[in-house]
Amino acid sequence: MLTVALSKGRILDETLPLFAAAGIEPVEDPLASRKLVIDTCRDDVRFLVIRPADVATYVQYGAADAGVVGKDLLMENGGEGLYELLDLAISRCRMVVAEPAELAVGDDPSSWTRLRIATKYPNITRGHFAAKGVQTEIIKLYGSMELAPLVKLSDRIVDLVDTGNTLRANGLTEVEKIADITARFVVNRASMKVRSRALGELVDALKRAVAGTAIPDETARAEGAGSGT
Ligand code: PRP
Repeated sequence: MLTVALSKGRILDETLPLFAAAGIEPVEDPLASRKLVIDTCRDDVRFLVIRPADVATYVQYGAADAGVVGKDLLMENGGEGLYELLDLAISRCRMVVAEPAELAVGDDPSSWTRLRIATKYPNITRGHFAAKGVQTEIIKLYGSMELAPLVKLSDRIVDLVDTGNTLRANGLTEVEKIADITARFVVNRASMKVRSRALGELVDALKRAVAGTAIPDETARAEGAGSGT
């Protein structure tokens, strides 16, 4: 039996279609169910549906063989004992430094020497700025980072940005990109050895599913071009 830990929340909406394309579908809707262990149409695969921040821990300790987790959490927590086998190319976003639009006018990131930053990602933030020789005072938050500059808790934030709507709605501007982020398929070392064949097959199927997600667009474009001639 392969146990795969899936991250709850927005990321799950994109994860389930990928697994479905790889031939693995849950027998009940994890978005609706309160169950945490969900059987699949394959009697050799089951899902755990848990908080994104807990996925790596379940996999690291061997409670799950594999998991789907954001690169942001792997970067922040180190991903020790995990092999990152596949970039699933879902939950695509970027980690950025943002600040109030009025501060951004005339602000030059290359002149920064000391910053007060609110973030859910203290390790990434510390590492990013230490590498540039910028001192940081980091205020750890657990969500809604965009609020911090509005009430002068911090000058800047480090957070994930997707559409940019949350930044815009709060009068903030992206001033520096730290990293591009996507969800990754990870496994632990022991499962890699003991279940290498089953995991290898699953990774191959997921790879095809990831590649396949680009195909409908291409097909649509080709058909659109064809119909115009
Ligand atoms: C994430 C992130 C931003 C927002 C970015 O928050 O932390 O706040 O999404 O998305 P956008 O650029 O499309 O607006 P999430 O909703 O996951 O909640 P959180 O603030 O509690 O982390």
